[in-house]
Amino acid sequence: MSLHTTASAPSRYSSTSNEKGDGDESREERINDWSGLNLAEMEGRVGFKGLFQNKFVSGVAMFATLGGFLFGYDQGVVSNVLAIESFGAAFPEIYSDASLKGWYVSTLLITAWLGSLLNGPVCDKIGRRRDIMCLVVIFLFGSALQTGATASAYLFGGRAVAGIAVGALTHVVPMYLAEISSANIRGALVALQQVAITFGILVSYWIAYGTSHIGGTRCAPEIPYSGPLLNGSPTFDPFNDVPAGGCTGQTQASWRIPVGVQMFPALCLGFGMIFMPYSPRWLMEKGRDDEAIQTLSRLRCKPADALSVRFEYLEIKAEIQYTREAREAAYPNAGRVRHLVNNYLMLVSSWPKFKRLAVGCLAMFYQQFVGCNAIIYYAPTIFGQLGLNPNTTSLLATGVYGVVNFLFTFPAVFLLDSAGRRPLLMCGAAGCFVALVVVGSLVAAFSTDWLSHPTAGRAAIAFIFLYDVNFCYSWGPIGWVLPSEIFPLHLRSTGISIAVSTAWMANFIIGLVSPMMLTQIADGGTYYFFAGFAALAFFTTLFFIPETRGRTLEEMNAAFGDHATDKERERMEAICRDLGLPEKALLAA
Ligand code: BGC
Repeated sequence: MSLHTTASAPSRYSSTSNEKGDGDESREERINDWSGLNLAEMEGRVGFKGLFQNKFVSGVAMFATLGGFLFGYDQGVVSNVLAIESFGAAFPEIYSDASLKGWYVSTLLITAWLGSLLNGPVCDKIGRRRDIMCLVVIFLFGSALQTGATASAYLFGGRAVAGIAVGALTHVVPMYLAEISSANIRGALVALQQVAITFGILVSYWIAYGTSHIGGTRCAPEIPYSGPLLNGSPTFDPFNDVPAGGCTGQTQASWRIPVGVQMFPALCLGFGMIFMPYSPRWLMEKGRDDEAIQTLSRLRCKPADALSVRFEYLEIKAEIQYTREAREAAYPNAGRVRHLVNNYLMLVSSWPKFKRLAVGCLAMFYQQFVGCNAIIYYAPTIFGQLGLNPNTTSLLATGVYGVVNFLFTFPAVFLLDSAGRRPLLMCGAAGCFVALVVVGSLVAAFSTDWLSHPTAGRAAIAFIFLYDVNFCYSWGPIGWVLPSEIFPLHLRSTGISIAVSTAWMANFIIGLVSPMMLTQIADGGTYYFFAGFAALAFFTTLFFIPETRGRTLEEMNAAFGDHATDKERERMEAICRDLGLPEKALLAA
Protein backbone atom coordinates (compact mmCIF):
# COMPACT_ATOMS: atom_id res chain seq x y z
CA MET A 1 0.00 0.00 0.00
CA SER A 2 1.51 3.30 -0.87
CA LEU A 3 1.41 6.27 1.36
CA HIS A 4 0.39 9.48 -0.24
CA THR A 5 -0.17 11.39 2.86
CA THR A 6 1.77 13.39 5.33
CA ALA A 7 3.33 11.47 8.09
CA SER A 8 3.14 14.00 10.77
CA ALA A 9 -0.59 13.64 11.04
CA PRO A 10 -2.52 12.86 14.16
CA SER A 11 -1.24 11.69 17.39
CA ARG A 12 -3.67 9.37 19.03
CA TYR A 13 -2.49 6.02 18.81
CA SER A 14 -2.87 2.46 19.49
CA SER A 15 -0.10 0.29 18.72
CA THR A 16 1.44 -2.77 19.16
CA SER A 17 4.45 -4.24 20.42
CA ASN A 18 3.94 -7.16 22.69
CA GLU A 19 0.77 -8.47 21.24
CA LYS A 20 0.16 -12.09 21.81
CA GLY A 21 -1.91 -12.06 18.71
CA ASP A 22 -5.42 -11.58 19.84
CA GLY A 23 -6.15 -8.85 22.23
CA ASP A 24 -6.04 -5.12 22.33
CA GLU A 25 -5.39 -5.36 26.08
CA SER A 26 -1.95 -6.75 25.51
CA ARG A 27 -0.86 -3.72 23.52
CA GLU A 28 1.51 -1.76 25.66
CA GLU A 29 3.37 0.68 23.60
CA ARG A 30 1.53 3.60 22.06
CA ILE A 31 3.05 5.66 19.35
CA ASN A 32 2.07 9.27 19.69
CA ASP A 33 3.77 10.87 16.82
CA TRP A 34 4.60 9.82 13.30
CA SER A 35 6.69 12.87 12.61
CA GLY A 36 9.90 10.83 12.76
CA LEU A 37 8.67 8.74 9.87
CA ASN A 38 10.44 9.42 6.63
CA LEU A 39 7.92 8.44 4.01
CA ALA A 40 10.17 9.14 1.05
CA GLU A 41 12.78 6.86 2.52
CA MET A 42 10.18 4.27 3.45
CA GLU A 43 8.76 4.17 -0.07
CA GLY A 44 12.19 4.01 -1.65
CA ARG A 45 12.90 4.21 -5.33
CA VAL A 46 10.08 3.48 -7.69
CA GLY A 47 10.02 0.62 -10.19
CA PHE A 48 13.05 -1.15 -11.58
CA LYS A 49 15.61 0.90 -9.61
CA GLY A 50 13.76 0.06 -6.42
CA LEU A 51 14.55 -3.62 -6.99
CA PHE A 52 18.19 -2.97 -6.11
CA GLN A 53 17.43 -1.07 -2.95
CA ASN A 54 16.15 -3.91 -0.78
CA LYS A 55 18.10 -6.90 -1.95
CA PHE A 56 16.50 -9.28 0.51
CA VAL A 57 12.95 -8.74 -0.69
CA SER A 58 14.05 -8.72 -4.33
CA GLY A 59 15.92 -11.96 -3.74
CA VAL A 60 12.87 -13.60 -2.16
CA ALA A 61 10.71 -12.31 -5.00
CA MET A 62 13.05 -13.53 -7.70
CA PHE A 63 13.12 -16.89 -6.03
CA ALA A 64 9.33 -17.06 -5.91
CA THR A 65 9.12 -16.23 -9.60
CA LEU A 66 10.45 -19.75 -10.12
CA GLY A 67 6.69 -20.44 -10.13
CA GLY A 68 6.43 -18.28 -13.29
CA PHE A 69 9.47 -20.05 -14.71
CA LEU A 70 7.69 -23.41 -14.33
CA PHE A 71 4.62 -22.02 -16.08
CA GLY A 72 6.74 -20.73 -18.97
CA TYR A 73 8.78 -23.91 -19.21
CA ASP A 74 5.69 -26.07 -19.33
CA GLN A 75 4.15 -23.85 -22.01
CA GLY A 76 7.28 -23.85 -24.14
CA VAL A 77 8.37 -27.43 -23.86
CA VAL A 78 5.35 -28.95 -25.56
CA SER A 79 5.95 -27.25 -28.89
CA ASN A 80 9.38 -28.79 -29.38
CA VAL A 81 8.41 -32.14 -27.92
CA LEU A 82 5.52 -32.37 -30.37
CA ALA A 83 7.96 -31.85 -33.24
CA ILE A 84 10.46 -34.52 -32.07
CA GLU A 85 10.27 -37.67 -34.20
CA SER A 86 11.18 -40.12 -31.44
CA PHE A 87 8.18 -38.71 -29.56
CA GLY A 88 6.13 -39.33 -32.71
CA ALA A 89 7.41 -42.90 -32.86
CA ALA A 90 6.35 -43.48 -29.23
CA PHE A 91 2.97 -41.77 -29.60
CA PRO A 92 2.06 -41.88 -33.32
CA GLU A 93 -1.60 -41.24 -32.58
CA ILE A 94 -0.77 -37.84 -31.06
CA TYR A 95 1.96 -36.92 -33.53
CA SER A 96 -0.19 -37.45 -36.57
CA ASP A 97 -3.50 -36.02 -35.39
CA ALA A 98 -3.89 -32.24 -35.19
CA SER A 99 -6.83 -32.42 -32.83
CA LEU A 100 -5.04 -34.81 -30.41
CA LYS A 101 -2.01 -32.50 -30.51
CA GLY A 102 -4.36 -29.71 -29.55
CA TRP A 103 -5.72 -31.79 -26.66
CA TYR A 104 -2.21 -32.72 -25.53
CA VAL A 105 -1.35 -29.04 -25.21
CA SER A 106 -4.72 -28.06 -23.83
CA THR A 107 -5.20 -30.68 -21.12
CA LEU A 108 -2.79 -28.73 -18.95
CA LEU A 109 -4.55 -25.49 -19.77
CA ILE A 110 -8.02 -26.57 -18.74
CA THR A 111 -6.86 -28.02 -15.43
CA ALA A 112 -4.75 -24.90 -14.90
CA TRP A 113 -7.95 -22.91 -15.30
CA LEU A 114 -9.49 -24.99 -12.55
CA GLY A 115 -6.39 -24.68 -10.37
CA SER A 116 -6.30 -20.89 -10.65
CA LEU A 117 -9.99 -20.64 -9.83
CA LEU A 118 -9.95 -22.95 -6.82
CA ASN A 119 -6.69 -21.91 -5.25
CA GLY A 120 -8.00 -18.75 -3.56
CA PRO A 121 -9.72 -20.38 -0.57
CA VAL A 122 -6.95 -23.00 -0.24
CA CYS A 123 -4.13 -20.50 -0.02
CA ASP A 124 -6.14 -18.35 2.37
CA LYS A 125 -6.54 -21.37 4.61
CA ILE A 126 -3.05 -22.88 4.60
CA GLY A 127 -1.04 -19.80 3.68
CA ARG A 128 0.96 -18.81 0.62
CA ARG A 129 4.19 -20.64 1.50
CA ARG A 130 2.58 -23.97 2.32
CA ASP A 131 0.30 -23.62 -0.68
CA ILE A 132 3.32 -23.21 -2.96
CA MET A 133 5.02 -26.22 -1.35
CA CYS A 134 1.95 -28.45 -1.79
CA LEU A 135 1.60 -27.29 -5.40
CA VAL A 136 5.20 -28.26 -6.06
CA VAL A 137 4.45 -31.79 -4.86
CA ILE A 138 1.45 -31.99 -7.21
CA PHE A 139 3.58 -30.58 -10.03
CA LEU A 140 6.32 -33.16 -9.43
CA PHE A 141 3.82 -35.97 -9.56
CA GLY A 142 2.39 -34.69 -12.86
CA SER A 143 5.84 -34.21 -14.38
CA ALA A 144 7.01 -37.66 -13.30
CA LEU A 145 3.97 -39.22 -14.96
CA GLN A 146 4.80 -37.46 -18.23
CA THR A 147 8.52 -38.18 -18.10
CA GLY A 148 8.06 -41.90 -17.62
CA ALA A 149 4.98 -42.19 -19.88
CA THR A 150 4.70 -45.43 -21.81
CA ALA A 151 1.16 -44.80 -23.06
CA SER A 152 -0.62 -41.63 -24.03
CA ALA A 153 -2.95 -41.94 -21.02
CA TYR A 154 0.06 -41.22 -18.74
CA LEU A 155 0.96 -38.20 -20.83
CA PHE A 156 -2.52 -36.76 -20.68
CA GLY A 157 -2.93 -37.66 -16.99
CA GLY A 158 0.44 -36.12 -16.16
CA ARG A 159 -0.37 -32.90 -17.96
CA ALA A 160 -3.75 -32.73 -16.23
CA VAL A 161 -2.17 -33.10 -12.78
CA ALA A 162 0.69 -30.68 -13.51
CA GLY A 163 -1.85 -28.20 -14.88
CA ILE A 164 -3.65 -27.89 -11.56
CA ALA A 165 -0.37 -26.92 -9.92
CA VAL A 166 0.72 -24.55 -12.69
CA GLY A 167 -2.62 -22.73 -12.73
CA ALA A 168 -2.72 -22.39 -8.96
CA LEU A 169 0.88 -21.12 -8.95
CA THR A 170 -0.08 -18.31 -11.34
CA HIS A 171 -2.60 -17.21 -8.73
CA VAL A 172 -0.53 -17.55 -5.57
CA VAL A 173 2.90 -16.38 -6.72
CA PRO A 174 1.89 -12.87 -7.88
CA MET A 175 -0.16 -12.54 -4.71
CA TYR A 176 2.77 -13.61 -2.51
CA LEU A 177 4.99 -11.15 -4.39
CA ALA A 178 2.52 -8.33 -3.85
CA GLU A 179 2.19 -9.17 -0.15
CA ILE A 180 5.88 -9.23 0.67
CA SER A 181 6.91 -6.27 -1.45
CA SER A 182 6.60 -2.61 -0.74
CA ALA A 183 4.35 -0.51 -2.97
CA ASN A 184 7.16 1.18 -4.87
CA ILE A 185 8.37 -2.04 -6.51
CA ARG A 186 5.09 -3.94 -6.83
CA GLY A 187 4.63 -3.15 -10.55
CA ALA A 188 8.23 -4.05 -11.35
CA LEU A 189 7.89 -7.30 -9.44
CA VAL A 190 4.78 -8.34 -11.37
CA ALA A 191 6.66 -7.56 -14.58
CA LEU A 192 9.52 -9.72 -13.26
CA GLN A 193 7.05 -12.57 -13.11
CA GLN A 194 6.60 -12.14 -16.88
CA VAL A 195 10.39 -12.11 -17.31
CA ALA A 196 10.46 -15.43 -15.44
CA ILE A 197 7.70 -16.85 -17.66
CA THR A 198 9.55 -15.90 -20.83
CA PHE A 199 12.82 -17.18 -19.38
CA GLY A 200 11.10 -20.52 -18.73
CA ILE A 201 9.92 -20.62 -22.34
CA LEU A 202 13.40 -19.73 -23.57
CA VAL A 203 15.15 -22.40 -21.48
CA SER A 204 12.62 -25.04 -22.52
CA TYR A 205 13.19 -24.27 -26.20
CA TRP A 206 16.94 -24.55 -25.97
CA ILE A 207 16.95 -27.66 -23.82
CA ALA A 208 14.57 -29.36 -26.25
CA TYR A 209 16.62 -28.08 -29.18
CA GLY A 210 19.76 -29.59 -27.65
CA THR A 211 18.20 -32.90 -26.70
CA SER A 212 16.51 -33.24 -30.09
CA HIS A 213 20.02 -34.04 -31.36
CA ILE A 214 20.51 -37.06 -29.06
CA GLY A 215 21.09 -39.95 -31.43
CA GLY A 216 20.48 -37.66 -34.42
CA THR A 217 17.66 -35.40 -35.46
CA ARG A 218 15.73 -38.09 -37.32
CA CYS A 219 14.07 -41.23 -36.05
CA ALA A 220 15.41 -43.50 -38.78
CA PRO A 221 17.93 -41.75 -41.01
CA GLU A 222 18.33 -44.80 -43.25
CA ILE A 223 14.62 -44.96 -44.20
CA PRO A 224 13.25 -42.70 -46.94
CA TYR A 225 10.28 -41.00 -45.31
CA SER A 226 6.79 -41.50 -46.68
CA GLY A 227 4.63 -38.85 -44.94
CA PRO A 228 2.81 -35.92 -46.60
CA LEU A 229 4.96 -33.52 -48.62
CA LEU A 230 6.23 -30.37 -46.98
CA ASN A 231 8.14 -27.94 -49.18
CA GLY A 232 8.44 -30.70 -51.73
CA SER A 233 9.91 -33.40 -49.45
CA PRO A 234 8.09 -36.28 -47.72
CA THR A 235 7.76 -35.90 -43.96
CA PHE A 236 8.04 -38.46 -41.16
CA ASP A 237 5.10 -40.84 -40.94
CA PRO A 238 5.19 -42.30 -37.41
CA PHE A 239 3.10 -45.31 -38.45
CA ASN A 240 5.26 -46.40 -41.41
CA ASP A 241 8.69 -44.89 -41.03
CA VAL A 242 9.74 -46.47 -37.71
CA PRO A 243 11.86 -49.65 -37.82
CA ALA A 244 10.50 -52.65 -35.88
CA GLY A 245 12.70 -52.11 -32.80
CA GLY A 246 11.99 -48.37 -32.61
CA CYS A 247 13.95 -45.38 -33.88
CA THR A 248 17.48 -46.22 -34.90
CA GLY A 249 18.57 -42.57 -34.76
CA GLN A 250 17.05 -40.10 -32.35
CA THR A 251 16.49 -41.68 -28.93
CA GLN A 252 13.62 -41.36 -26.47
CA ALA A 253 15.88 -39.28 -24.23
CA SER A 254 15.32 -36.51 -26.79
CA TRP A 255 11.86 -35.85 -25.42
CA ARG A 256 11.99 -37.44 -21.96
CA ILE A 257 14.85 -35.22 -20.79
CA PRO A 258 13.20 -31.88 -21.60
CA VAL A 259 9.96 -33.07 -20.01
CA GLY A 260 11.74 -34.36 -16.90
CA VAL A 261 14.18 -31.50 -16.39
CA GLN A 262 11.43 -29.21 -15.09
CA MET A 263 11.36 -31.24 -11.89
CA PHE A 264 14.65 -29.62 -10.78
CA PRO A 265 13.46 -26.01 -10.63
CA ALA A 266 10.26 -27.30 -9.04
CA LEU A 267 12.26 -29.10 -6.35
CA CYS A 268 14.30 -25.93 -5.75
CA LEU A 269 11.10 -23.93 -5.38
CA GLY A 270 9.56 -26.45 -2.99
CA PHE A 271 12.66 -26.74 -0.78
CA GLY A 272 13.50 -23.09 -0.94
CA MET A 273 10.05 -22.03 0.21
CA ILE A 274 10.83 -23.65 3.58
CA PHE A 275 13.29 -20.81 4.17
CA MET A 276 11.22 -18.00 2.68
CA PRO A 277 9.28 -15.64 4.93
CA TYR A 278 5.55 -15.92 5.47
CA SER A 279 3.33 -13.31 3.93
CA PRO A 280 2.90 -10.72 6.73
CA ARG A 281 -0.62 -10.02 5.54
CA TRP A 282 -1.63 -13.65 5.82
CA LEU A 283 -0.08 -13.92 9.29
CA MET A 284 -2.16 -10.96 10.40
CA GLU A 285 -5.30 -12.38 8.92
CA LYS A 286 -4.66 -15.41 11.09
CA GLY A 287 -4.13 -13.22 14.16
CA ARG A 288 -0.37 -13.97 14.33
CA ASP A 289 0.55 -10.32 14.71
CA ASP A 290 3.85 -10.81 16.54
CA GLU A 291 5.21 -12.99 13.78
CA ALA A 292 3.87 -10.53 11.22
CA ILE A 293 5.90 -7.70 12.77
CA GLN A 294 9.03 -9.84 12.90
CA THR A 295 8.54 -10.84 9.28
CA LEU A 296 7.98 -7.26 8.18
CA SER A 297 11.09 -6.23 10.00
CA ARG A 298 13.06 -8.98 8.23
CA LEU A 299 11.60 -8.06 4.86
CA ARG A 300 12.30 -4.36 5.25
CA CYS A 301 15.73 -4.97 6.85
CA LYS A 302 14.80 -2.71 9.76
CA PRO A 303 14.28 -3.28 13.49
CA ALA A 304 10.80 -4.37 14.50
CA ASP A 305 10.26 -1.14 16.42
CA ALA A 306 11.27 1.13 13.52
CA LEU A 307 8.53 3.67 12.85
CA SER A 308 8.22 2.65 9.22
CA VAL A 309 7.74 -1.02 10.16
CA ARG A 310 5.11 -0.04 12.71
CA PHE A 311 3.37 2.13 10.18
CA GLU A 312 3.24 -0.56 7.54
CA TYR A 313 2.02 -3.05 10.09
CA LEU A 314 -0.82 -0.76 11.10
CA GLU A 315 -1.71 -0.06 7.50
CA ILE A 316 -2.10 -3.76 6.76
CA LYS A 317 -4.09 -4.15 9.93
CA ALA A 318 -6.38 -1.33 8.85
CA GLU A 319 -6.84 -2.93 5.42
CA ILE A 320 -7.78 -6.25 6.94
CA GLN A 321 -10.18 -4.68 9.40
CA TYR A 322 -11.78 -2.60 6.66
CA THR A 323 -12.24 -5.68 4.49
CA ARG A 324 -13.96 -7.53 7.34
CA GLU A 325 -16.22 -4.64 8.21
CA ALA A 326 -17.12 -3.94 4.56
CA ARG A 327 -18.10 -7.57 4.07
CA GLU A 328 -20.06 -7.69 7.27
CA ALA A 329 -21.89 -4.48 6.38
CA ALA A 330 -22.77 -5.70 2.89
CA TYR A 331 -23.87 -9.17 3.97
CA PRO A 332 -24.47 -9.28 7.73
CA ASN A 333 -24.17 -12.63 9.51
CA ALA A 334 -23.11 -14.51 6.42
CA GLY A 335 -21.28 -17.80 7.04
CA ARG A 336 -17.91 -18.69 5.54
CA VAL A 337 -19.24 -20.17 2.34
CA ARG A 338 -21.66 -17.34 1.91
CA HIS A 339 -18.76 -14.87 2.34
CA LEU A 340 -16.94 -16.61 -0.42
CA VAL A 341 -19.92 -16.36 -2.75
CA ASN A 342 -20.48 -12.74 -1.73
CA ASN A 343 -16.97 -11.81 -2.85
CA TYR A 344 -18.00 -12.82 -6.34
CA LEU A 345 -21.36 -11.09 -6.13
CA MET A 346 -19.76 -7.84 -4.97
CA LEU A 347 -17.70 -7.77 -8.16
CA VAL A 348 -20.85 -7.53 -10.24
CA SER A 349 -22.87 -5.45 -7.80
CA SER A 350 -22.35 -2.12 -9.60
CA TRP A 351 -21.16 -0.93 -13.00
CA PRO A 352 -17.83 0.53 -11.73
CA LYS A 353 -16.96 -2.76 -9.96
CA PHE A 354 -18.01 -4.74 -12.99
CA LYS A 355 -15.95 -2.46 -15.20
CA ARG A 356 -12.86 -3.32 -13.16
CA LEU A 357 -13.60 -6.99 -13.58
CA ALA A 358 -14.19 -6.51 -17.29
CA VAL A 359 -10.91 -4.62 -17.71
CA GLY A 360 -8.97 -7.31 -15.82
CA CYS A 361 -10.56 -10.13 -17.78
CA LEU A 362 -10.29 -8.37 -21.14
CA ALA A 363 -6.60 -7.67 -20.56
CA MET A 364 -6.04 -11.39 -20.06
CA PHE A 365 -8.40 -12.39 -22.85
CA TYR A 366 -6.63 -10.22 -25.44
CA GLN A 367 -3.24 -11.31 -24.12
CA GLN A 368 -4.20 -14.76 -25.32
CA PHE A 369 -6.38 -13.95 -28.33
CA VAL A 370 -3.80 -11.87 -30.14
CA GLY A 371 -2.30 -15.32 -30.68
CA CYS A 372 0.93 -15.35 -28.67
CA ASN A 373 0.54 -18.96 -27.66
CA ALA A 374 -0.50 -20.19 -31.09
CA ILE A 375 3.11 -19.38 -31.93
CA ILE A 376 4.65 -20.47 -28.61
CA TYR A 377 3.01 -23.90 -28.82
CA TYR A 378 3.27 -24.52 -32.52
CA ALA A 379 6.34 -22.49 -33.49
CA PRO A 380 8.26 -25.35 -35.15
CA THR A 381 5.15 -26.25 -37.16
CA ILE A 382 4.60 -22.61 -38.13
CA PHE A 383 8.22 -22.07 -39.14
CA GLY A 384 8.02 -25.36 -41.06
CA GLN A 385 4.96 -24.06 -42.90
CA LEU A 386 6.83 -20.86 -43.70
CA GLY A 387 9.51 -22.80 -45.53
CA LEU A 388 12.09 -23.85 -42.92
CA ASN A 389 13.27 -27.45 -42.57
CA PRO A 390 10.90 -28.89 -39.95
CA ASN A 391 13.53 -31.06 -38.23
CA THR A 392 16.39 -28.68 -37.82
CA THR A 393 16.15 -25.07 -38.91
CA SER A 394 12.64 -24.56 -37.61
CA LEU A 395 13.63 -25.82 -34.15
CA LEU A 396 16.53 -23.39 -34.23
CA ALA A 397 14.24 -20.53 -35.27
CA THR A 398 12.00 -21.52 -32.37
CA GLY A 399 14.98 -21.21 -30.03
CA VAL A 400 15.75 -17.75 -31.39
CA TYR A 401 12.07 -16.86 -30.98
CA GLY A 402 12.42 -17.75 -27.30
CA VAL A 403 15.39 -15.37 -26.98
CA VAL A 404 13.48 -12.51 -28.63
CA ASN A 405 10.46 -13.25 -26.46
CA PHE A 406 12.63 -13.00 -23.34
CA LEU A 407 14.72 -9.97 -24.28
CA PHE A 408 11.84 -7.79 -25.42
CA THR A 409 10.04 -8.25 -22.12
CA PHE A 410 12.69 -6.07 -20.45
CA PRO A 411 11.54 -2.80 -22.05
CA ALA A 412 8.27 -3.37 -20.22
CA VAL A 413 10.05 -3.60 -16.87
CA PHE A 414 11.71 -0.23 -17.57
CA LEU A 415 8.81 1.52 -19.33
CA LEU A 416 5.72 0.40 -17.44
CA ASP A 417 6.03 3.02 -14.73
CA SER A 418 7.20 5.86 -16.95
CA ALA A 419 5.31 5.49 -20.25
CA GLY A 420 2.16 4.11 -18.66
CA ARG A 421 -0.01 1.13 -19.56
CA ARG A 422 -2.26 2.54 -22.28
CA PRO A 423 0.39 3.76 -24.75
CA LEU A 424 2.22 0.45 -24.50
CA LEU A 425 -0.99 -1.55 -24.95
CA MET A 426 -2.11 0.47 -27.98
CA CYS A 427 1.30 0.48 -29.59
CA GLY A 428 1.64 -3.27 -28.98
CA ALA A 429 -1.80 -4.03 -30.42
CA ALA A 430 -1.16 -1.92 -33.51
CA GLY A 431 2.25 -3.51 -34.05
CA CYS A 432 0.83 -7.04 -33.66
CA PHE A 433 -1.98 -6.19 -36.07
CA VAL A 434 0.34 -4.94 -38.81
CA ALA A 435 2.76 -7.86 -38.43
CA LEU A 436 -0.01 -10.46 -38.49
CA VAL A 437 -1.68 -8.95 -41.56
CA VAL A 438 1.66 -8.99 -43.40
CA VAL A 439 2.33 -12.65 -42.46
CA GLY A 440 -1.23 -13.61 -43.43
CA SER A 441 -0.89 -11.89 -46.80
CA LEU A 442 2.46 -13.52 -47.53
CA VAL A 443 1.04 -16.93 -46.61
CA ALA A 444 -1.99 -16.27 -48.82
CA ALA A 445 0.21 -15.37 -51.77
CA PHE A 446 3.09 -17.83 -51.51
CA SER A 447 2.30 -20.73 -49.19
CA THR A 448 1.88 -23.19 -52.04
CA ASP A 449 5.44 -22.66 -53.17
CA TRP A 450 7.85 -21.16 -50.67
CA LEU A 451 10.75 -22.88 -52.41
CA SER A 452 10.48 -20.62 -55.42
CA HIS A 453 9.95 -17.54 -53.25
CA PRO A 454 12.57 -17.78 -50.50
CA THR A 455 12.51 -14.03 -49.83
CA ALA A 456 8.78 -14.10 -49.13
CA GLY A 457 9.34 -16.97 -46.66
CA ARG A 458 12.11 -15.07 -44.90
CA ALA A 459 9.99 -11.91 -44.78
CA ALA A 460 7.10 -13.87 -43.20
CA ILE A 461 9.46 -15.23 -40.54
CA ALA A 462 10.85 -11.74 -39.88
CA PHE A 463 7.32 -10.42 -39.35
CA ILE A 464 6.55 -13.26 -36.94
CA PHE A 465 9.50 -12.00 -34.90
CA LEU A 466 8.29 -8.42 -35.20
CA TYR A 467 4.90 -9.55 -33.95
CA ASP A 468 6.56 -11.06 -30.90
CA VAL A 469 8.52 -7.90 -30.12
CA ASN A 470 5.25 -5.96 -30.08
CA PHE A 471 3.58 -8.50 -27.85
CA CYS A 472 6.45 -8.69 -25.36
CA TYR A 473 6.56 -5.07 -24.21
CA SER A 474 2.78 -4.77 -24.08
CA TRP A 475 0.07 -7.39 -23.67
CA GLY A 476 2.43 -10.04 -22.26
CA PRO A 477 3.36 -8.25 -19.03
CA ILE A 478 0.50 -5.74 -18.79
CA GLY A 479 -2.03 -8.55 -19.04
CA TRP A 480 -0.73 -9.62 -15.60
CA VAL A 481 -0.11 -6.15 -14.20
CA LEU A 482 -3.60 -4.72 -14.75
CA PRO A 483 -5.55 -7.31 -12.74
CA SER A 484 -3.08 -7.00 -9.88
CA GLU A 485 -3.68 -3.27 -9.48
CA ILE A 486 -7.25 -2.37 -10.41
CA PHE A 487 -9.34 -4.08 -7.73
CA PRO A 488 -10.20 -2.54 -4.39
CA LEU A 489 -8.34 -4.26 -1.58
CA HIS A 490 -11.18 -6.34 -0.26
CA LEU A 491 -11.94 -7.77 -3.72
CA ARG A 492 -8.38 -8.15 -4.94
CA SER A 493 -7.81 -11.87 -4.45
CA THR A 494 -11.17 -12.82 -5.97
CA GLY A 495 -10.76 -10.36 -8.84
CA ILE A 496 -7.27 -11.62 -9.65
CA SER A 497 -8.37 -15.23 -9.58
CA ILE A 498 -11.22 -14.57 -12.04
CA ALA A 499 -8.94 -12.59 -14.37
CA VAL A 500 -6.19 -15.24 -14.22
CA SER A 501 -8.69 -18.00 -14.86
CA THR A 502 -9.91 -16.04 -17.92
CA ALA A 503 -6.36 -16.18 -19.24
CA TRP A 504 -6.26 -19.93 -18.76
CA MET A 505 -9.64 -20.47 -20.40
CA ALA A 506 -8.61 -18.36 -23.40
CA ASN A 507 -5.24 -20.10 -23.47
CA PHE A 508 -7.07 -23.44 -23.47
CA ILE A 509 -9.19 -22.48 -26.46
CA ILE A 510 -6.16 -21.22 -28.40
CA GLY A 511 -4.15 -24.35 -27.59
CA LEU A 512 -7.01 -26.52 -28.78
CA VAL A 513 -7.97 -24.79 -32.00
CA SER A 514 -4.62 -23.47 -33.27
CA PRO A 515 -3.26 -26.71 -34.74
CA MET A 516 -6.54 -27.29 -36.55
CA MET A 517 -6.66 -23.69 -37.75
CA LEU A 518 -3.08 -23.86 -38.93
CA THR A 519 -3.64 -27.04 -40.91
CA GLN A 520 -7.15 -26.34 -42.12
CA ILE A 521 -7.44 -22.60 -42.74
CA ALA A 522 -5.60 -21.96 -45.96
CA ASP A 523 -4.63 -18.53 -47.28
CA GLY A 524 -3.33 -17.07 -44.04
CA GLY A 525 -6.74 -17.06 -42.35
CA THR A 526 -5.26 -17.99 -38.96
CA TYR A 527 -3.09 -14.85 -38.98
CA TYR A 528 -6.01 -12.65 -40.06
CA PHE A 529 -8.08 -14.15 -37.26
CA PHE A 530 -5.55 -13.09 -34.63
CA ALA A 531 -5.04 -9.74 -36.39
CA GLY A 532 -8.77 -9.12 -35.96
CA PHE A 533 -8.40 -9.56 -32.20
CA ALA A 534 -5.34 -7.29 -32.16
CA ALA A 535 -7.48 -4.57 -33.80
CA LEU A 536 -10.22 -5.14 -31.21
CA ALA A 537 -7.62 -4.97 -28.44
CA PHE A 538 -6.47 -1.59 -29.78
CA PHE A 539 -9.97 -0.10 -29.78
CA THR A 540 -10.87 -1.62 -26.43
CA THR A 541 -7.83 0.06 -24.92
CA LEU A 542 -8.61 3.34 -26.64
CA PHE A 543 -12.21 3.53 -25.47
CA PHE A 544 -12.45 1.37 -22.38
CA ILE A 545 -9.21 0.77 -20.45
CA PRO A 546 -8.22 3.68 -18.18
CA GLU A 547 -4.60 4.58 -17.44
CA THR A 548 -3.64 3.06 -14.09
CA ARG A 549 0.03 3.98 -13.78
CA GLY A 550 0.97 5.28 -10.35
CA ARG A 551 -2.60 5.70 -9.11
CA THR A 552 -3.54 5.55 -5.48
CA LEU A 553 -6.63 3.59 -4.54
CA GLU A 554 -8.63 6.80 -4.44
CA GLU A 555 -7.47 7.84 -7.92
CA MET A 556 -8.11 4.32 -9.18
CA ASN A 557 -11.66 4.57 -7.85
CA ALA A 558 -12.08 7.82 -9.72
CA ALA A 559 -10.71 6.27 -12.93
CA PHE A 560 -13.44 3.64 -12.74
CA GLY A 561 -16.11 6.07 -11.53
CA ASP A 562 -16.23 4.07 -8.29
CA HIS A 563 -16.25 6.67 -5.54
CA ALA A 564 -16.31 5.64 -1.91
CA THR A 565 -19.65 6.41 -0.34
CA ASP A 566 -19.75 8.67 2.68
CA LYS A 567 -20.34 5.60 4.82
CA GLU A 568 -17.32 3.79 3.41
CA ARG A 569 -15.20 6.88 3.89
CA GLU A 570 -16.34 7.23 7.47
CA ARG A 571 -15.58 3.58 8.12
CA MET A 572 -12.08 3.96 6.71
CA GLU A 573 -11.41 7.05 8.76
CA ALA A 574 -12.75 5.47 11.92
CA ILE A 575 -10.49 2.47 11.52
CA CYS A 576 -7.47 4.68 10.92
CA ARG A 577 -8.33 6.77 13.94
CA ASP A 578 -8.73 3.66 16.01
CA LEU A 579 -5.39 2.28 15.04
CA GLY A 580 -3.66 5.62 15.29
CA LEU A 581 -2.98 6.07 11.62
CA PRO A 582 -3.32 9.34 9.75
CA GLU A 583 -6.94 9.44 8.71
CA LYS A 584 -6.32 9.31 5.01
CA ALA A 585 -3.87 6.42 5.12
CA LEU A 586 -6.38 3.78 4.12
CA LEU A 587 -7.87 5.85 1.32
CA ALA A 588 -4.45 6.46 -0.12
CA ALA A 589 -3.66 2.76 -0.20
C1 BGC B 1 1.26 -15.37 -21.23
C2 BGC B 1 1.66 -16.72 -21.69
C3 BGC B 1 2.54 -16.58 -22.89
C4 BGC B 1 3.71 -15.71 -22.60
C5 BGC B 1 4.51 -15.47 -23.84
C6 BGC B 1 2.49 -14.61 -20.91
O1 BGC B 1 2.15 -13.37 -20.44
O2 BGC B 1 0.44 -15.47 -20.09
O3 BGC B 1 0.51 -17.46 -21.94
O4 BGC B 1 3.00 -17.83 -23.32
O5 BGC B 1 3.29 -14.49 -22.07
O6 BGC B 1 5.61 -14.68 -23.62
